[in-house]
Amino acid sequence: MSEKKIWWRDAVIYQVYPRSFKDSNGDGEGDLGGVIAGIPYLADLGVDAIWLSPFYKSPNKDGGYDVSDPRDVDPRFGTLDEAKKLIDTAHAHGIKFIADIVPNHFSTEHAWFKAALASPKGSPERARFHFYDGRGPNGDTPPNNWISIFRGPSWTRVTEPDGSAGQWYLHLFDSSQPDLNWANPDVEEDFEKTLRFWLDLGADGFRIDVAHGCVKDKIDVDHRDPNRLIDALRLDFLDITTEERAGLLSDVPFFDREGVHDIYRKWRKIFDSYSGDRMSVAEAFVYPSSRAARYVRSDELHQVFNFNFMMLGWDAKIMSESIKTTLEELKDVKAPATWVLNNHDTPRVVTRIGSPRKARALAQLIHSLPGGVYIYQGEELGLPSADLPDAARQDPAFIRSGGSDKGRDECRVPLPWDSTQPHYGYGTGTPWLPQPADWAQYCMNVEAADPASSLNFYKQMLQLRRGNASLGGEGAITWIDSEPEVMHFTREPGLEVVVNTSSVEKSVKVSGKKILLASHEGTNATDGVLQLPADTTVWLER
Ligand code: NOJ
Repeated sequence: MSEKKIWWRDAVIYQVYPRSFKDSNGDGEGDLGGVIAGIPYLADLGVDAIWLSPFYKSPNKDGGYDVSDPRDVDPRFGTLDEAKKLIDTAHAHGIKFIADIVPNHFSTEHAWFKAALASPKGSPERARFHFYDGRGPNGDTPPNNWISIFRGPSWTRVTEPDGSAGQWYLHLFDSSQPDLNWANPDVEEDFEKTLRFWLDLGADGFRIDVAHGCVKDKIDVDHRDPNRLIDALRLDFLDITTEERAGLLSDVPFFDREGVHDIYRKWRKIFDSYSGDRMSVAEAFVYPSSRAARYVRSDELHQVFNFNFMMLGWDAKIMSESIKTTLEELKDVKAPATWVLNNHDTPRVVTRIGSPRKARALAQLIHSLPGGVYIYQGEELGLPSADLPDAARQDPAFIRSGGSDKGRDECRVPLPWDSTQPHYGYGTGTPWLPQPADWAQYCMNVEAADPASSLNFYKQMLQLRRGNASLGGEGAITWIDSEPEVMHFTREPGLEVVVNTSSVEKSVKVSGKKILLASHEGTNATDGVLQLPADTTVWLER
């Protein structure tokens, strides 16, 4: 007797960044109408679910991660009725819907923050955020020396209602994103309302923004090296050695505090009170990686993004060690792994890994691993990050760093749909970020017509994954000894996977005879020997 399959444990989840997906009303910005129009494309691609980055009311200082009303839709994106229509349309196509929830901060435009500004020091309105007096005789030095993740101070001073220079509020991100005080019961209550609001509307789950950040410690203590700490928290790791990073990240006063787990234990009870296996995925970038498993203990969240794997280079040995570590770390808590190659905060995988060929082979590898997979919109087209003129950049990370950090706009350029239409069919208005002049080649219509395209490769891969019990799922991996630049393993009941990360062809002894899928041409298996070209992944049926 097989147990009932729980959909999210090995789902393929497609991230939609709605502002850049498809613009249905010609204002140059993607919207919910555009996402609705794109559902048949996503169903045809073969994904199990979509996760939508925020589309809630927001002044859009940080791409909608600055929420001014989490229970309403921003007019730039559409209406609440359209959100409902989107959820229903996705469901009608057999696609689950995952919303994004942003519990670490609100926007300064949220009614609560406006009320806090209008209320005196010590008021209940201010107690929902982190308001503190400044240091020094006039209070004009921030309460501590923490640096914002987007650079610059993480404190902004307010003007009191009587016009005097006043208290300071904490913002780990942009000054338009005041951090919420989770020690205040109002905050907990309000988020419960928000969760229930979207669950009632039909959401199948949530991606939890900065899940590790909601609880702060030691606000009255300066950090010994706040700038270096922010370097260490960046997803590209700069030039930091493992030892230095371990030292810096062992005790971050605003991340991965014990108290965050109390929040998720309460949230889990809410998810479980709904029918239909509702789920949650934590954006929790914690160090060391073993700490991530604590977010997916059986009474907490369901998945956690595997950012440690995401940041690795194309190297069979390093990747296989990381895969083993991931599976080992999650074994005790019985949570499935996740595999993700890029998102709206990182360079696109083609650019990060250095070539479309490697990116395709890497994608095929992660689709053969146990657990769930995330695809970032446009990844299926093989889109690279786009070159942008500085004048076009809008990311607060670019603005706050004075341009030393180029920010994340390069991976957020609007998608190319149709090479015969203006703006590649994204919409009739001028796109909010300029699309490169050579993107016709990546348009969905062009790729759909080319059997060797990235799009058709992804389609075939997802179709095979769906129909093959050895792919995805949660069964074990059996590793087979191989030379350092080759990864070789089998999965039950009948799959063999070989990956060549070197730049030369390799001969590998295999037991499988039939090639199910190869990321590139030129692969063949005869008499138990596989000839595997450079930078290629192969699935064989055993
Ligand atoms: C993580 C989100 O993915 C990112 O886009 C955002 O800027 C920060 N959290 C702040 O909400």
